[in-house]
Amino acid sequence: MPSQPKGITVQFLLDCDPGHDDMLTIFLAAKHLDVVGITTVSGNQSLEKTTRNARRSVELAGLTHIPIAKGLPRPLVNEVRYAPEIHGQSGLDGVALPEPTVELSPLHAVDFIIEASHTYDELVLVPAGPLTNIAAALIKDPTLVERVKEISLMGGSMTYGGSTAAAEFNIYVDPEAADVVFRSGLPIKMFGLNVTRMASATVERLDRIRDIGTPFARTVADLVEFYRASLHNVYGLDGASIHDPLAVAVYIRPELFTMQAMNVQIELNGTHTRGMTVCDYRYVGREGKGIYGESGIIRGAEANAEVAVDMDVDGFFDLLTDTLALY
Ligand code: RIB
Ligand code: CA
Repeated sequence: MPSQPKGITVQFLLDCDPGHDDMLTIFLAAKHLDVVGITTVSGNQSLEKTTRNARRSVELAGLTHIPIAKGLPRPLVNEVRYAPEIHGQSGLDGVALPEPTVELSPLHAVDFIIEASHTYDELVLVPAGPLTNIAAALIKDPTLVERVKEISLMGGSMTYGGSTAAAEFNIYVDPEAADVVFRSGLPIKMFGLNVTRMASATVERLDRIRDIGTPFARTVADLVEFYRASLHNVYGLDGASIHDPLAVAVYIRPELFTMQAMNVQIELNGTHTRGMTVCDYRYVGREGKGIYGESGIIRGAEANAEVAVDMDVDGFFDLLTDTLALY
């Protein structure tokens, strides 16, 4: 475990399934935030591949000081489900990165998360993949909720799904894990598809990254171009949805995002809706205004999350591009 004593700053632990947008999350967070660890989970690809990709990502960016701990190989209940059609057979297709050499933490990701909650007094968990590791840590040590400051996650949606009409991939892969997390009582920031698809890395925005002109920036642009082309082929999208980095960008430039408190529950049984984040935006905040301007009557369930409802897309890509230029 890292030796940093309990400080007063906020520390961040990224739980991810690299994955092109997970990789960008690591790069964005590492330049602005105190990232104390990366844990890997089965999601976009197998655990072996997502772990290899986390190691390749930190080596590409010169971030090998950040410990990486390998997590769980499958969801709590579901069979595994990967996304090779989006991220490729390696999970990080687009550029043949060298085999990683950086060692893994000797701790399992679940134990790494629990240990980190004892080491750091302001720990924010940032899951950017299925919530399997986070749920397992909460199950293994229920006192975790007393020591973790907040969870900021990419997952779910207030509106349309991704994997199905109703469910976004990270939640759909492991709905039971998401249910454990959303019922944990921990403060949650949720960045769902209704906002993350706004963060669309078009060819023009990728050209801005490539024009940084460094070998690192060109490699990142080539990797994200693979991801963009996949999303265009599968969903007909114009750009690569830079989903995961929003969950850390909110701590770097919070003014880029509009968040709304509301109740979110995970559907576990619906024939057509299993894995849906059921967002109750009947709930109007204590200030008496809901996102659609209703006033006064609180009709929804008690809020358990802050959900992203809008973002400044150009401001986000300025932040991302400026950050990539720092490597
Ligand atoms: O639905 C988008 C999410 O699924 C992102 O986290 C992406 O990396 C994939 O894991
Ligand atoms: Ca991810």
